[in-house]
Amino acid sequence: MESLVRCEGLVKIYKVADLEQVALQGLDLEVREGEMIGIVGPSGSGKSTLLNILGGLDTPSAGKVVVGGRDLLKLSASALDTYRRHEVGFLWQQPSRNLIPYLSLLDNVRLPMMMTGVGARLRDRRARELLERMGLWGHRERRPAALSGGQQQRAALAVALANGPRLLLADEPTGELDSATAEEIYDLLHRLNEETHLTVLIVTHDPDIAGHVSRVVAIRDGKISSEVVTADRSGSSPARGSDASRRSAEYVVLDGAGRLQIPAHYLKRFRIGRRAVLEPREDGILVRPPQEDPHE
Ligand SMILES: Nc1ncnc2c1ncn2[C@@H]1O[C@H](COP(=O)(O)OP(=O)(O)O)[C@@H](O)[C@H]1O
Ligand SMILES: [Mg+2]
Repeated sequence: MESLVRCEGLVKIYKVADLEQVALQGLDLEVREGEMIGIVGPSGSGKSTLLNILGGLDTPSAGKVVVGGRDLLKLSASALDTYRRHEVGFLWQQPSRNLIPYLSLLDNVRLPMMMTGVGARLRDRRARELLERMGLWGHRERRPAALSGGQQQRAALAVALANGPRLLLADEPTGELDSATAEEIYDLLHRLNEETHLTVLIVTHDPDIAGHVSRVVAIRDGKISSEVVTADRSGSSPARGSDASRRSAEYVVLDGAGRLQIPAHYLKRFRIGRRAVLEPREDGILVRPPQEDPHE
């Protein structure tokens, strides 16, 4: 499968008054077309910044971001506009950010298609298909406030998919839902991913995400630090059920320059400070603390 998303050395520095806030520091990420991946990391680690850059809502301070063969930093303003409207869909944590409160569900779903000039008949047909798929056709004349949180998020998903994006970016989409409803949303995303080959990136705090996606990448301090690959997903459904049956492996990730982040608990356990010794072995490289480190 081809890669749909490629980020290389992404850096994002926000300047607030005289302070520089580094949100991303050399992040590399590749996502294949049709993949469904989870991005986890503590608050402030740069997850939303990454999604905003991928969605063309923000630009990095340095680095490269290519989606579907387009170098986002080289697009003209109008090409970027087209990209945002046609190629990516956003699902935010707050339903209010996804839906317009004074429009019916049907009009909410029609609206993005009006903005891209889709003809009335196609628009109506597509809106119906999407609302049916989300189990909301019966509620089409209602306004968002008349729906439950889960229904609102399903409606938001219909809106996000209205113009048929290839990439769906979901930022904590279940953050305001109870766990049963969150499960429903994940299942829905998963079905969409399987049936329509939609590429899905989900940012979340939820450790349960691993049961729903083929790969989970962890962000720490603005960089991908490790990733967990669910072994037996070969383009089909992710392994579910007990941990034992969910064969998965955790990897640390190297950036383009060969740097890797060693998890903090290992550094502590093996008393590795600012220096370590690399020892080539038959089948790999051993990282160990120096015998005598005058600086420790
Ligand atoms: N618009 C902004 N202006 C200044 N700093 C920001 C802005 N957006 C995010 N940051 C900072 O960048 C870092 C990463 O933020 P964010 O991407 O929102 O993290 P996450 O989504 O993982 O919680 C944080 O330290 C945050 O305070
Ligand atoms: Mg965030």
